[in-house]
Amino acid sequence: MSEIQPLALSGLSKAFGGLHAVAGVDLSVRPGERRAIIGPNGAGKTTLFNLISGDLMPSGGRIVLFGHDVTRLPSFRRAALGLARTFQITTLFPSLSVLENMLLAAQALERTKLMFHRPLGSYGHLYARARAVLESVDLAGKEGETAKNLSHGEQRQLEVALALAGRPRLLLLDEPTAGLSPAESQMMAALLRTLDPAITILIIEHDMDVAFGLADHVMVLHNGRVIADGSPEAVKADPLVAEIYLGTD
Ligand SMILES: Nc1ncnc2c1ncn2[C@@H]1O[C@H](COP(=O)(O)OP(=O)(O)OP(=O)(O)O)[C@@H](O)[C@H]1O
Ligand SMILES: [Mg+2]
Repeated sequence: MSEIQPLALSGLSKAFGGLHAVAGVDLSVRPGERRAIIGPNGAGKTTLFNLISGDLMPSGGRIVLFGHDVTRLPSFRRAALGLARTFQITTLFPSLSVLENMLLAAQALERTKLMFHRPLGSYGHLYARARAVLESVDLAGKEGETAKNLSHGEQRQLEVALALAGRPRLLLLDEPTAGLSPAESQMMAALLRTLDPAITILIIEHDMDVAFGLADHVMVLHNGRVIADGSPEAVKADPLVAEIYLGTD
């Protein structure tokens, strides 16, 4: 396991016009940590992920990823350092098969060009990796299924698999249980608990059972600011958190 700090943010900010969506966030993440990021709608959670991943450029502050200052680097350079993410809204190719979705994700991180008219066997190493990852998210046997024909729960599992395809060391999960039934959410939570403990995970999650069940650390965002940060127990007991967030649950 790497001893290098996976992620450090200092004074990270993003303004959209006059709206301070992320307003001076400091964050220090340990190797192997499982940290939940919670907060009401519009708190700035997804914007924070977009800044870390490089999908948005910050208005201010600094992002250090595995010891490298990536504040101004494009997202593919961050991916090459070991960062992967999932999105709040499904981003699968709906009419491609599960395996084709996986191969596209895997080859995006390689120099190999994928051509569907060539037999799958000619992508031996990608194919083996894809199958192993699908198995790890309980989708073994679904390789040939068209993505849009999977259940919602299976589609979310596939999104996690796509993020895992590049062997990330830091994984950002943006509401992996969004749109799932309680039973499907529980399955997702169980699956996330089986991921390699060496992978550092930040998870945005509205489902408190999932968030508190997985995380060893919880950070609460409100109006772009960190209003609480600590153990799940400490955050649950925080009166301000109860007032603005948990009280509405
Ligand atoms: N590209 C954008 N342009 C302008 N405003 C934006 C943009 N993206 C987000 N915002 C605004 O920034 C604020 C934070 O949005 P963000 O999506 O980060 O919240 P969130 O905490 O992820 O909320 P949710 O729980 O609903 O997903 C919101 O007020 C949102 O409307
Ligand atoms: Mg969001």
